[in-house]
Amino acid sequence: MIAGGQMLGSNQPVIIHMLDIEPAAEILKGVKMELLDGAFPLLKGVIATTDVIEACQGVDIAIMLGGFPHRKGDNKDLIFKNVGIYKAQASALEQHADPNCKVLVVAHPANTNALILKKFAPLIPDENITSLTRLDHNRALNQISEALNVHVGDVRNVIIWGNHSSNLYPDANHATVDMGAGHKPVRELISDYQWLNTEFITNVQHRGEAIIKARRLSSSFSTASAACDHMRDWILGTPKGTWVSMGVHSDGSYGIQPGLIYSFPVICEKGEWSIFAKEKMDAVERALVEEKTVAYSCLH
Ligand code: LMR
Repeated sequence: MIAGGQMLGSNQPVIIHMLDIEPAAEILKGVKMELLDGAFPLLKGVIATTDVIEACQGVDIAIMLGGFPHRKGDNKDLIFKNVGIYKAQASALEQHADPNCKVLVVAHPANTNALILKKFAPLIPDENITSLTRLDHNRALNQISEALNVHVGDVRNVIIWGNHSSNLYPDANHATVDMGAGHKPVRELISDYQWLNTEFITNVQHRGEAIIKARRLSSSFSTASAACDHMRDWILGTPKGTWVSMGVHSDGSYGIQPGLIYSFPVICEKGEWSIFAKEKMDAVERALVEEKTVAYSCLH
C-alpha cells in the first residue's frame, strides 16, 4: 500500500525500511524480493534489516507494528514485555530518525506502547507520537453504513474515544451521512436508538475478536489500510468538514488527563493534528438542528 501510493499519495516517492527480529530475517528478505518484483514506480529503495539503528536511520515516518504477540487475558504481562522492546526502539528513533519523524504505534496495547516510546524518546516532540484507533473508526463507519444501507464513503464524523481495546467508546452522536442534498445526522436516520446505544458499540468494541474467531488470525488488511488512512490524513490533511480518530497526546481536552495518549476526534492540516474542540462540536450540532428545523418547516 505504501509503495503503491496509498499512504502518501501518487506523487510521493518512498524508501521503505523494514525491521524484524533475527528469526524472521529470511522472511523479511522474501518480503523485500516481493516489493522489488512489484515494480512500483514510487518505490525508490527497500532496506530489510534486523538492526534497529539501520532501520531508523533518517526515517520521516515510523509505523510501529511490532510488539510482543498479543494474547487474550491480562495486559500487564504484555506491557512488561513491550517496555523493553519500545525502550530500545525509542532511543534508536530519537537518535537516528529525522528529528521531526512522525510515529504511529499499532502494536497492542497501542496507547501505552506509545506512552513508553514518548518516555524513552523525550526529544521527539509529543505531538509526533500517535497510536492507531483509525481501525476502530473505520469499523464504526462500516457498522453505520451497513445499518443504513448507504455507502461507507458517505458516512463521516464518528468518534472513537479512548483506547484500541474492548473498552473503547465508539460515538455516533455527531456522525452524519451524505444524502446527496446535504448531510443528515445518523441519530435522525437510525430510529433504533437501542441499536445505536448497545449493539453498535459492542460490535465495534469486539470486531477484532470476531475477526480472530473467523480467520483464526488477527485483522491484517484492514489494520494496514487504517494505518495508511491515519498517516495520509495526518500528513496531507483531513477533508474539509471531517474529523478522524487518532490516539494523541492529551492536552486536557474533554477532561482527559494531560499527557495520556488518548483517542480524540482530530482535524489535520499541513502535517499537524489538533483536537476538535467541544465548542466547535456543539456549533456543528446547533447548525444541524437549525438545518433540521428548516427542512421540517418545508414539510408543512
Ligand atoms: C483487532 O482489533 O483487530 C486486533 O487488535 C485484534 C487483536 O487482538 O490482535
